[in-house]
Amino acid sequence: MPQGPGYATDLADRYDDWFAPPAATTDATVALLARLAGSAPDGPLLELGIGTGRVALPLAARGHDVHGIDASTTMVERLRAKPGGEKLTVSIGDFAEVDHEGEFAVAYVAGGTFFELRTQQAQLRCFAQAARRLLPGGLFVLDAHLPEALAAHAGAGAQTVETANGDPVLRVRRLRPAGQRYTSDYLVFADGLFRHVRVDFRYASPGELDLMAAAAGLRLRERFGGWSGTPFSDTSGYHVSVYELPA
Ligand SMILES: C[S@@+](CC[C@H](N)C(=O)[O-])C[C@H]1O[C@@H](n2cnc3c(N)ncnc32)[C@H](O)[C@@H]1O
Repeated sequence: MPQGPGYATDLADRYDDWFAPPAATTDATVALLARLAGSAPDGPLLELGIGTGRVALPLAARGHDVHGIDASTTMVERLRAKPGGEKLTVSIGDFAEVDHEGEFAVAYVAGGTFFELRTQQAQLRCFAQAARRLLPGGLFVLDAHLPEALAAHAGAGAQTVETANGDPVLRVRRLRPAGQRYTSDYLVFADGLFRHVRVDFRYASPGELDLMAAAAGLRLRERFGGWSGTPFSDTSGYHVSVYELPA
């Protein structure tokens, strides 16, 4: 079983400070997921790669029954330490397997986490296993960068990342298109030290994701240009895709 990437095992206590997106993005993510849950059958929600509960805890605070899976015990310890964190049902495991009891109205992956599954086989497996856990009419929701946007980021060199606590973080993305891989190297300066964190990803186009979904018996219901619910368009660099298990 994967232990989770290095940031999740070694820097879980600083994840929210350095790697979580701005609060407005989290608010929009929670709002869109709550809206989507309202259009899905009644039932619990399942977050794949739940991490420190950035999205799951505010959703639970709105009254949703939220479950989760994560490979990193240290990330889940952080979740447990937050208000409401002790109430969520969380499995430690590989989210490609979706090995978590229950049937869910919505399974979702947020924070660009889906591409942390680093093979096409693991990504296909995740779609298939998520579909198996959905109630009829249930939704599988994921967010991802477009390959074209990743290529543009990679060409732009080092970029500063906005962090929750203001610590300076530089990110360099490098693309390895032959294997549909990209690497994000983060350089964090905090407490008088530089720290280096590397995360490896496998990217896929929206079309490839749609094919994986179709192979799992899911169909694309809608695609947004981001968690704020903007339309997906030619200028989108990012998407939130909503797949449905036919009722
Ligand atoms: C970028 S963090 C995002 C956490 C949370 N979804 C959020 O948006 O704040 C990704 C999380 O996925 C977990 N993860 C990565 N690969 C995994 C895998 N194959 N199985 C289970 N968890 C995994 C990591 O341990 C980490 O907690």
